[in-house]
Amino acid sequence: MEELIQKAKEILSRARGITVLTGAGISAESGIPTFRGEDGLWKKYNPEDIDTADGFRRNPKYVWEWYYGLRELISKKEPNPGHYALVMLEKIKPYFTLITQNIDDLHRTAGNANIIELHGNIWWMRCMDCSYIEENREVPLAEIPPTCKNCSGLLRPVVVWFRDNIPLSTIDACLLSIEDSDVMLIVGTSGIVEPAASMGLIAKHVGKTVIEINLEESINSPKYDLVLLGKTGDILPKIIPINK
Ligand code: OAD
Repeated sequence: MEELIQKAKEILSRARGITVLTGAGISAESGIPTFRGEDGLWKKYNPEDIDTADGFRRNPKYVWEWYYGLRELISKKEPNPGHYALVMLEKIKPYFTLITQNIDDLHRTAGNANIIELHGNIWWMRCMDCSYIEENREVPLAEIPPTCKNCSGLLRPVVVWFRDNIPLSTIDACLLSIEDSDVMLIVGTSGIVEPAASMGLIAKHVGKTVIEINLEESINSPKYDLVLLGKTGDILPKIIPINK
């Protein structure tokens, strides 16, 4: 393992541009459950009820109660050493983009700036009728389900649900950052949900070096250049070079 860590550190040290893709695994050590692990959220809840526009239309109160529970949990959590290692990496590299599937905002809280939130952000709400959008950090929420200040329509969380379209401009920004990078780091994601799942493969396809960090091998691990097995909070701080 020590040898793999040194190798990853050398690769990152040589790179001018780095794109990082994170998933729920990086926030697990902050105490936020992942989706597909033993205690994963999708083991206890049916994503069709919670993470789809149809489920929301059927029962907005139920969906908002679920999101309210998650907002309450996240509001008490803090970034961990894995998050802070990525802040350091952004500081020392001329080109750095952090693509995250996480909606918890912990990368921003830690101090990263160039973030693409592929699946949205739990602290934002959008009106289903007039598209009014607002940041709302209320815990507890004043009303469930919350309604629009502008037109009294129903507000939904600004998160990407199954069968929602991710804006093309967001996907473009991810692909451009991969193109501008020498190295892609894939951190704490099962690699099951598209389009994030294909991003490391695209990076490989266009000749970039791809390093993965995960507790266990993911379905795409055999295709990557280097796979470091362990906790992100242990491994990330060890592979960040000290200077450019
Ligand atoms: P998953 O729950 O599918 O996968 C979490 C990954 O993190 C697994 O591969 C774990 O092995 C790994 N992991 C857990 N703890 C770790 C740790 N401490 N250090 C390193 N790795 C660790 O979560 P995602 O891949 O993020 O989408 O899921 C992708 C999307 O599926 C989510 O964004 C969400 C969900 O449905 C939406 O809500 C749209």
